[in-house]
Amino acid sequence: MAAWVASLAPGPAIPDEEYLRADGNPTHGGELFRINCAMCHNAVGAAGALTEGKWAPQLKGVSEKHIYEAMVTGPQNMPVFNDANLTPEDKKDIITYLKYVENNPSVGGYELGSIGPVAEGLFVWIFGMGFIIAITVWLGAKSN
Ligand code: HEC
Repeated sequence: MAAWVASLAPGPAIPDEEYLRADGNPTHGGELFRINCAMCHNAVGAAGALTEGKWAPQLKGVSEKHIYEAMVTGPQNMPVFNDANLTPEDKKDIITYLKYVENNPSVGGYELGSIGPVAEGLFVWIFGMGFIIAITVWLGAKSN
């Protein structure tokens, strides 16, 4: 039945098992992800807002096959990444990167949705330092 449906119209085939194993190069995949995908999905695939109320979903917990097929079909607002754009090996590296991020949570402890080091650092500066200053003022007021 799948073969019959596939014969009706042109379209990408189901990806080869070989490219779905997530044992590629995560460093290269991360680079490709930041170039091609991060503007919509965030640098670690934590989701992102787009125009007109649309959004790019989070990519944690998405199966390897689903990731590959999303790249070759380009659902909704997402562009199609054909084999001339990202070779099957590149796609495998991207899948490897996403699986790596999924299986290796932040070593620095809590993260704020991985929105970036500047935004997260600023948050700590303003609220962390604000809290410390507030405590200091409070202690100073008590000692009088
Ligand atoms: C222009 C923005 C944009 C770019 C660039 C983009 N995506 Fe997407 N992506 C989307 C949107 C929007 C959806 C949701 C489509 C839908 O709702 O059907 C999506 C869906 C997905 C899904 C399906 C998630 C799910 O849970 O069903 C995967 C996987 C995915 N994208 C991976 C990628 C990868 C990998 C790249 C880079 C090679 C990429 N995307 C680049 C916008 C983008």
